[in-house]
Amino acid sequence: MSQTHTLLSKIQNRTANVVVIGAGYVGLPLLVELAREGYTTTGYDKDPEKVRLLGRGESYIGDIPTSTLKPLVESGKLKASTDPDVLRAADAIIVCVPTPLNKTKEPDMRFIVSATSEIAAAQHKDMLVVLESTTYPGTTREVLIPKLTNGYELGKDIFIAFSPERVDPGNANWGIKNTPKVLGGATPGCLEVACSLYGSIINTIVPVSSTDAAEMVKLLENTFRAVNIGLVNEVAMMSRKLGIDVWEVINAASSKPFGFMKFLPGPGLGGHCIPIDPLYLSWRMRTLKYEARFIELADAINSNMPREVTVLVQEALNQRKKAVNGTRILVSGVAYKRDVSDFRESPAFDVISLLEKLGAHVDYLDPHVPEVDEGDVKLKSVPENVAFGEYDAVVIVTDHQTIDYTRMLREAKLIVDTRDALRKVPGDKKNVVRL
Ligand SMILES: NC(=O)c1ccc[n+]([C@@H]2O[C@H](COP(=O)([O-])OP(=O)(O)OC[C@H]3O[C@@H](n4cnc5c(N)ncnc54)[C@H](O)[C@@H]3O)[C@@H](O)[C@H]2O)c1
Repeated sequence: MSQTHTLLSKIQNRTANVVVIGAGYVGLPLLVELAREGYTTTGYDKDPEKVRLLGRGESYIGDIPTSTLKPLVESGKLKASTDPDVLRAADAIIVCVPTPLNKTKEPDMRFIVSATSEIAAAQHKDMLVVLESTTYPGTTREVLIPKLTNGYELGKDIFIAFSPERVDPGNANWGIKNTPKVLGGATPGCLEVACSLYGSIINTIVPVSSTDAAEMVKLLENTFRAVNIGLVNEVAMMSRKLGIDVWEVINAASSKPFGFMKFLPGPGLGGHCIPIDPLYLSWRMRTLKYEARFIELADAINSNMPREVTVLVQEALNQRKKAVNGTRILVSGVAYKRDVSDFRESPAFDVISLLEKLGAHVDYLDPHVPEVDEGDVKLKSVPENVAFGEYDAVVIVTDHQTIDYTRMLREAKLIVDTRDALRKVPGDKKNVVRL
């Protein structure tokens, strides 16, 4: 039997042993789906705390309830380890490690490189390796394939593919199973094996012709979002100068049933994807002496939004004959988006730092984020029953649904609303300033 057939039959009869490297926001839901389907799975992670919790069946990711995880762990279908030796017994390895930017906003490839080296050290014939981490086009071909084909023939002994993750944390409608999955193989044989594994847990597979194309798909998706958010942020700035309510304009434009897609302005981009991924593409293009102008412009506009919010606060206080210096300001919501606890890259921290630099005393309220230690900002959330009236201004940065906006509107002396969170809240809006 050829290697492909052995591996394919292990996938088909669910005896394949699957290891996911990086059991985070992307890796853990994937492990759960694979274990549910009957595969024996292991989450290999460098973080001992995650591995300890996972080993006990306790979830640390909002979208995965412990009640889902625990039975899979107790049945032995889902294990966790910090030991790279688990890779030796793997038939399939899926890499979901972080791909951040370094201080100069260039790709930080350390995690992909080290995961690839660990796979190479544990490699054997008849293995599928799929990279899911978002990265620049060419990564699978240039970083993974050379390291994993030493003495192994691609598409015969080793099968390599790229599949961009499309996890949308907090989205109850679209999960792993019903979100179509794009897959690009290094060879047609690699694609066939990867499609077989993913096709067993996902309803719709969208094959593309190469790993480069699959990598580019993800960057198009996230660049599309970053550019459109940059556009509406600029429209918000222009509308403010024109004395027009940008939210009214966007809502009205959204009534067009074709040719328009609704994006909303806000205090800036956050999370591990939209602010970062497009810069992987612009970095790649710079190496080819091409300037990715849309990406750079959107990044400049979006990165400046926390400063625009600070100006809004300054102007609103000024109208009340107050300086930022010495005032008490409450930032409402520090997670990067509504109803989640993830605060990576959240613009809230830039807003807080900028206000503190101007001399404000800043507290924050976020029921999903009890405390933060991010750069200059080391704070604990105030309780939900906080007296809004004790602050000179409340700045809504993240519009979590559980916050009592009716009470906020009643009590706060001034509210700077960067999300239009108060539009539908009944009450007098004379103390509300919107982006
Ligand atoms: N979070 C999202 O919503 C999302 C959505 C789509 C794509 N992505 C992409 O998926 C990738 C992973 O993102 P995430 O949000 O899951 O990150 P995460 O930080 O939640 O999880 C990554 C995990 O990898 C572990 N890790 C790092 N290097 C390792 C190594 N060499 N061996 C073992 N474990 C290692 C870390 O300890 C961490 O637990 C990124 O490229 C990201 O851009 C994320």
